[in-house]
Parts: sequence; C-alpha cells; structure tokens
Amino acid sequence: MAQPTFSTHVGMVDILPDEVRKWHKLEQIIHQEAKKFHFEEIRTPIMEQTELIARGVGEGTDIVSKEMFAFERGEDQYVLRPECTAPVARAFVEHHLEQRGGTQNLYYIGPMFRAEKPQKGRQRQFHQFGAEIIGADDPAADVDIIAFMMAIYDRVGISNTTLKINSVGEPESRKEYIEALKDYFRPHLDKLSSISQKRFENNPLRILDSKEEEDQSFIEDAPVITDFLTEETAEHYQRVKELLTELDISFEEDPHLVRGLDYYTRTAFELISPDLGSQDALGGGGRYDLLIEEIGGQHTPAVGFAAGMERLFIACQELDINLVEEEMLDVYIVTLGEEARKWGLEHLPKLRAAGLSASMDYIGRSIKSQMKDADRENARHVIIVGGNELAEGKFTLRNMKASEEDSYTFDKILDKLTTDIN
Ligand code: HAM
Repeated sequence: MAQPTFSTHVGMVDILPDEVRKWHKLEQIIHQEAKKFHFEEIRTPIMEQTELIARGVGEGTDIVSKEMFAFERGEDQYVLRPECTAPVARAFVEHHLEQRGGTQNLYYIGPMFRAEKPQKGRQRQFHQFGAEIIGADDPAADVDIIAFMMAIYDRVGISNTTLKINSVGEPESRKEYIEALKDYFRPHLDKLSSISQKRFENNPLRILDSKEEEDQSFIEDAPVITDFLTEETAEHYQRVKELLTELDISFEEDPHLVRGLDYYTRTAFELISPDLGSQDALGGGGRYDLLIEEIGGQHTPAVGFAAGMERLFIACQELDINLVEEEMLDVYIVTLGEEARKWGLEHLPKLRAAGLSASMDYIGRSIKSQMKDADRENARHVIIVGGNELAEGKFTLRNMKASEEDSYTFDKILDKLTTDIN
C-alpha cells in the first residue's frame, strides 16, 4: 500500500535552514532597535480565548467573522491569535502591568494566524513584529511608535516606502461619519461591487478599503472622516503631523485610510511599499484608547504597530537587499584512520570552547569527500590529521581561501585561529 504523504496546511510554510539565517538577522535588528527605543519584549501564548479576539478586534471584521482558526477545549473556545495587540492588552490587564509605573513600551515577534485566501504576501500563518506603548495619550507616543517602525526598515535598507496617516476619530464622531457615508453611498448602491454592497450593511467604513475597480470613482468623492473630528482629536492629529515633520519622517495624509480592525481611535497609519503587488502594506497600526477598557481594564490610552515579516522579505528580494552574509565554518577536522578520528572527537570541544565553530566527519568518509564536505560547509580552515601527524604531534592547518598550508602543534593552531576570529 502506498504510504500517505504529508504536507503543511495551505498558506503555511516551513522555514528551511537556508532561509532561517535571514530571519535571525531581522530578529537581531529588531532586538537592537528595540533596545535603542527602550522597548521591552513580551511573549504571549499562540492561542487566546475567542471572546477576547472577538471583543478586541471586532465581531464585524473579516478577521473575526471569516478568518479565525477556532477550536474548543472542554467548555472553552479558543482561536489561534490573528494578531497580538488584543493579547498584549489582555496581558497588561491580567498582570496589572500599570503597577510597574510609567508607560509600558512593549514589543513582540511571532507567528499569527488568519484563514485568508493565500496569495503573494498573504499567508495563513505569517509572522509579525510589532510594538505597543500603553498608558500614554500624548501625540509624542504616536510619533515614537512610527519612528520605531521606520527605524527597522531603515536598518534593513528599505527606504522607498510611503507612510500613510489618518485620524479615524472616536466612536461618537465615527458614528456621525458612518451615517454621512451611508447617505452618500446609498443612491449609488446598485453600481458598487457586490463586496461593497455587503459592506454597506455590515461595515460601511470598509467600502473605503475596496480594491474593486467599479468602486474607485465613488470612493474618491466620498466624505472624509477628518471633517467629523472633535476639536480635541483634530488637535491631536495636527500635533502628530507637526512632530512627524520635525523628525523628518515624511508622510502622506489619506483621509480614506481605514484599518481592518475595529479597535482604532484617532491616529491610524500604514506603511506601503510599491514592491509588494496587491498586498502592499508592509505594516500598520494606530491608537486604540478604548481597547483596554473594552476587555475589562481601566481606561488606558495606547498606540502601536505591527508589520509582516514575510512582506519585508519580499520587499528585500525586489530591492536586491541581502540580509545575510555567507555563513562560514571556522574549522573542519579532516581525519585519516581510527586514531585520527578519536583525536578529532577529543579536540572538537576544545576548538568550540575557544569560541570557534568546528565540525568533522562522523561517518568515515575518504579524505577526498571530507575535503569536499569542508568546502560545502564553507570552512575557512581545515586541520588534517593522519598517522604521521599524530606521531609528530604537528598537524596540517590549511587556509582554504588562500590555499596555503603549514604544520603546527595543536596549541599553536588554536592560538592562530582564535587570533583570527578576534
Ligand atoms: P494588521 O494591519 O492587521 O494590523 O497587520 C499588520 C501587518 O501584518 C500587515 O500590514 C501585513 O504586513 C501583515 N499581515 C497581515 N495579515 C497578513 C497575512 N495574512 N499574511 C502576511 N502578512 C500579513 C495588526 O495586526 C494590528 N495588531 C497592528 C497594531 C498594533 N495596531 C496597534 N498595535
């Protein structure tokens, strides 16, 4: 009988060893920038109670209504987290993080899950890095979160991006705005796409997000939310723009920018790249001053962003940015005969203890294939050990790049190699 073959779930991918190095490099950049901006890492579980995500992200959103990986354990209902803002807010409330004093500047890196239709830049398991400033309502926090996000793209070398910003107001002004939007779209309803007709009923704001050709001219002339903001929110938005200008962060105002999650209030933003095709958002975020209250905490203003790591790598590929240098092995021990192998096994730990990466053949291959293996592993040096070398106490050290070799005692080799890496 044929053996079954197994594969990943559609839209979920293995990250194989050749790929992993660029992930490490990006993670390293994120950790380093986080340190500069004084953010602390937080790690939350991959599953959360369905109710938290439904309340946080919003029942009417695509994420909650169509894209959740949901399951039950006993009485409880869980989902694989589709994003990390609601989980971080939950952790903030659950562990009374406000008691640590000041604002909580938190960041995270990890997998998220949305059962969307996979396409370029859209997976069902994807990875985000993101950050949240919890406990500050000042526009300076909005701008610092944007600056942190931009600093990571700067370090990577992705600079041809557009930062779009908007203010989506508060529930009261948004309610008025939604009424105005409905009044505006109603007479044209039969000319809108079927998706937008549905959104007209469930979530009219999302019509503005439509990519359908037939909707575009109507969207262009639609009323804008910035005409409905309270005075205080309009001032907040103005200050965000001034601070961005002061920091030399260029931006474009997009009064039709709406986000696919319901918790936003006031500032909303997206970072767009021309290198991504139709899924053109590298990252996005905004202020969510009511979320923490909504999930059972005290009123606590907050702002954050999250960015897709796979999309960042797509942009790198388009821009020919190579995040990783070639991985080198410091030293490979080539052995001839049983005694030499034993010597090799005894000396590998000494090389590693000195901070060198070191490897050898474990399966008794010929010298020729061991040399090939050393080449394949990108070894900088090879130590060649045979009967004569053992008798003499001196071993051949070959510099693979320079194709030069000489004989030394092991201590001398160790000395030479460690000077090399320091
Ligand atoms: P979001 O806009 O839903 O926001 O996602 C942020 C980023 O995650 C997107 O811009 C995109 O790069 C990436 N992303 C989203 N879905 C997928 C997918 N299916 N495949 C690949 N990449 C994807 C949030 O998640 C909010 N939590 C951001 C935030 C943080 N707001 C405040 N704090």
